[in-house]
Amino acid sequence: MFAVNDNFSSLPASYLFSEVARRVQAYTEAHPEADVIRMGIGDVTRPLCPAVIDALHRAVDDEGAAATFHGYGPEQGYSFLASKIASHDYRSRGIDISEDEIFISDGAKSDTGNIGDILSPDCRVAVTDPVYPVYVDTNVMAGRAGTLQPDGRWSNIEYLPCTTDNGFVPQLPSSSPDVIYLCYPNNPTGTVLTREELEKWVEYCRRNGALLLFDAAYEAFVRTPGIPRSIYEIEGAKEVAIEFRSFSKTAGFTGIRLGYTVVPHELKGRGADGSPVALNPLWRRRQTTKFNGASYITQRGAEALYTPEGERQSRETVDYYLANARIMLDSLREAGYECTGGVDSPYVWIKTPDHLSSWEFFDLLLNRYNIVGTPGSGFGPSGEGYFRLTAFNTRENTVRAMSRLRL
Ligand code: MLT
Repeated sequence: MFAVNDNFSSLPASYLFSEVARRVQAYTEAHPEADVIRMGIGDVTRPLCPAVIDALHRAVDDEGAAATFHGYGPEQGYSFLASKIASHDYRSRGIDISEDEIFISDGAKSDTGNIGDILSPDCRVAVTDPVYPVYVDTNVMAGRAGTLQPDGRWSNIEYLPCTTDNGFVPQLPSSSPDVIYLCYPNNPTGTVLTREELEKWVEYCRRNGALLLFDAAYEAFVRTPGIPRSIYEIEGAKEVAIEFRSFSKTAGFTGIRLGYTVVPHELKGRGADGSPVALNPLWRRRQTTKFNGASYITQRGAEALYTPEGERQSRETVDYYLANARIMLDSLREAGYECTGGVDSPYVWIKTPDHLSSWEFFDLLLNRYNIVGTPGSGFGPSGEGYFRLTAFNTRENTVRAMSRLRL
């Protein structure tokens, strides 16, 4: 018989959010009358905004007429969208990013998972802990993670704890990793890093020849003045960082899928002979070979976000979720919970009460209050004893969930 990629055998049996969904399904089957409020996976509830809907309708009509029909598009995305991303998301904020440094895709999850294709299997990796599980799991799949230790850590990954003990601010690594994943505003803790903190990371990567994989999927939630929304706001970052962005949480594209990745021309790794190799052409080669581009219709929909109405409407949507987060923070604190996040982020990170484990608290919330959240331990060993709730539900459900917790 043929051999399989054995790295998969060492992974936990199921992906975190699939496991949560499985347990919730078992519960609702056993209790069909239960009015379960879902605050687990960060899926949005607000519909696409009118500017996007109009653009999507027009794009559907384009596809129905021979003169305007689009088949395969450019694998890295249409210029009509990439040019707007470059000008609105970067150049208008004083960041010099050009269209050919932008790679439009079906979302940041795919890109943060696929980026390892252009890195050596020998790269040593560091992640903050807790962390979005895709970063770790995809490195396990690629054989970079080593073996799973009894403490839940992979032997070849450096974990940088972010807990109440250090105010959720990760220390610089001690093991000289080649690749570092940072996600800010952070999933799952909902915290942000200041400019000074981010400067330390860029400086570290420049000094040590490390690559910074910066996941900015939640940048639209930043409202605190001075908190960077892009890693490229930090001087020198273009030489060390790849940035991932998403339209999912910003504009409700979790279902229709769209994101983009910025790979600056200046960013170079090392080839086998020690010579510098630019990552931009490598990622282009990867995408053109393995990806046929996000759909024309979806990209037209996203283009509408860069009109004045689209900008206003999507900002209103983000504000709506941020107001939910405010309600959650206030209610949870009033009820005696210790929590963080929820200010520049849609995620509220709660310390479990009474030393309950993350999964015990998950069961308690589901069984007693019919509220679904995500157990912190699913995001890594330092997530044990914590729990994540999202602000992406409706206002009504958010208020109802909070009043259940206050009882
Ligand atoms: C989350 O809940 O962490 C996110 O929704 C997952 C994702 O974006 O893939």
